[in-house]
Amino acid sequence: MENRTKSFIYAAIIGLIIVAIFLGFLSSMANPISWILIAVLLLIPILYKRKANPQQVQWREEYSVGIEHIDNDHKKLISLLNNFTIAYDYAMSEAFEKEALNELVSYTKYHFDREEKMMADHDYPDLTAHKAQHEVMIGQVENFVQLYNEKGHDALDEIASFLSDWLINHINGTDKQYSEHLHNKGVY
Ligand SMILES: [Fe+2]
Ligand SMILES: [Fe+2]
Repeated sequence: MENRTKSFIYAAIIGLIIVAIFLGFLSSMANPISWILIAVLLLIPILYKRKANPQQVQWREEYSVGIEHIDNDHKKLISLLNNFTIAYDYAMSEAFEKEALNELVSYTKYHFDREEKMMADHDYPDLTAHKAQHEVMIGQVENFVQLYNEKGHDALDEIASFLSDWLINHINGTDKQYSEHLHNKGVY
C-alpha cells in the first residue's frame, strides 16, 4: 500500500476514534469505553513512529576513522541520509524528496573528492582501489537518481535501505583502512 494511502487511513481511524470518544462522553463522563479509546489514541503516535522510522541511522563511535573533519563529513552524510529517509517514508511532496536525495548525492560527491585529495596528499598506497570504490558507488547512486527522475517515488522501494547499507559499509569498512596510514602521517 502506498504511504499516502496509509497516512489517509491512519487519519481516518483517528477521526473515528475521536468521534466515538465524544459520543461515549455524551452518554456519561464515566463511560469506560471513551477512556479506553483515549488511551488507544495516546498510543497511536508511539506505534506509528516506531513503524514509520525503522531505518533511521544513528552515528556510533565505532564508525569513527579517528580524523575529525572526516568524521564530521560522515555525520553530515548520515544526517542527510536520514532526511531523505524521512522524506521518503512519510511520502512528503516529491519536490522535498527529490531535494533531499540530490543533497545527499552532491554531499557524497563533495566528500569523496575531499577524502581522495586527503589520501593523495599523504601518499596513501591504496588510493586507486579506494577511488575505484567511490566511482562504483557514485555510479550506483546516479542510477537510482535517474530511475527516480523517470518514475518518481514508487521507483525507489529499496533506495533508503540500499543507501544505509551502502554508506555505513563504506564508512565502517573501506574508510577505516586509511586511518593507520594517515595517523602515521600526523593526520587526526
Ligand atoms: Fe568517507
Ligand atoms: Fe571513502
